[in-house]
Amino acid sequence: MTFLTNLDDKTLKDGAVPTFALSQRGRAGMQLLGAVQKYSSGVLRPIAAENFAADKRGKALSAEHEAAAPGESARDRINAAREVCESDNVYRLERFIQRWVAEENFNRGIPAIEERREKFEAFNAAQGDTELLGTLDLSAQVALPKYYDRVEWHLEPGGWDGYDLYGALFAYGVGPYVFSHGGYAAVGVGDDITKQRANTIRQFPKESYGRIYEPGCGGVSTLKAVNSVFPEAELHGSDLSPLLLKNGQKMASRFGFPVHLKLADAAHDTGEADESYDGVITYALHHELPPKANREMFRELFRIMKPGADIVISDPPPFRAVSMFHAVILDWDTEHREEPFFSAVLHDSLDAMLEEAGFTNVESYAIGQDQYPWVTRAVKPATLAAEAA
Ligand SMILES: C[S@@+](CC[C@H](N)C(=O)[O-])C[C@H]1O[C@@H](n2cnc3c(N)ncnc32)[C@H](O)[C@@H]1O
Repeated sequence: MTFLTNLDDKTLKDGAVPTFALSQRGRAGMQLLGAVQKYSSGVLRPIAAENFAADKRGKALSAEHEAAAPGESARDRINAAREVCESDNVYRLERFIQRWVAEENFNRGIPAIEERREKFEAFNAAQGDTELLGTLDLSAQVALPKYYDRVEWHLEPGGWDGYDLYGALFAYGVGPYVFSHGGYAAVGVGDDITKQRANTIRQFPKESYGRIYEPGCGGVSTLKAVNSVFPEAELHGSDLSPLLLKNGQKMASRFGFPVHLKLADAAHDTGEADESYDGVITYALHHELPPKANREMFRELFRIMKPGADIVISDPPPFRAVSMFHAVILDWDTEHREEPFFSAVLHDSLDAMLEEAGFTNVESYAIGQDQYPWVTRAVKPATLAAEAA
């Protein structure tokens, strides 16, 4: 999730966390969602997986899925496997709960934050005095791409910019009470998304980096992890959402590290100079773009990277890398958690897209349970002419 969700962090500057809390009713409502989601993904889902594995048709589909050549389309198999899953009431209940929690995060979360609106506004105004570190450039005239405009990502009313206090909702409501249990979308049960980010950054192969760029940086959750692993690096990011960028720059300053953020469509024009970055990180980005826009983005990232620079990517695993049952679970997000391009990207191959854009040493692997985080990394060749020869 793109707004920062974990403020239980010793690196926050003094006074940068509110001293007030949500009301008892507001907090309890969110805790209930967290508990129900934990039960759903931790108890019901393993039963549904066992039921699938015990089903004759489920077994046959799993065997076909495992034998399939990498990259082969799995659409028909996933559709057939979904039918098997949907014949099981445990699976249906587990999916009902997932959808219900995803909606209730906002149905309950927004009123809980609204009860404290005056306090959050006063807190934000007082924090406005904190010196902003780095730069924020919202001046570019950026046309929102069709694939982005009007999508209510993850069922978030109004999309990323739809509610002025989404930053507070994720930091003080959904983050600590619901997401902290893991077990939603590609995130495994009990997984800690803050640690997952830091582990992903450790996949950069060099000891140290000069300038690192993150397209789709959102509220800087990932740039914060980059800062913790490579404190020497100069951090730059872009996003299509002004609200996320403003919120992100404020949060980075509260943590005490500078970031340089720019409004940009990174699949079109980052506004960055040729060969100006030593490293690029992308996190939870590519499944939100149609494959064509991803291909354009990789060409643009290749342009701004120095020869020899590294790119590290974390995105949900491709269908070919997960079990048949888990492929059904991931595929479900496309229709039910407002993720229009999730399945299209998971059927495609980021590895192939990187190679098409000119990257070499492309490799992909999992660093966590259920193949998540799934890391893809590659290098821009040090000498392009030598590569071409
Ligand atoms: C799921 S969020 C992940 C945010 C961040 N990378 C993180 O780790 O929290 C995806 C982000 O990508 C941004 N985004 C989507 N398409 C983009 C594009 N073409 N250019 C720049 N940002 C984009 C969205 O606005 C959103 O903030």
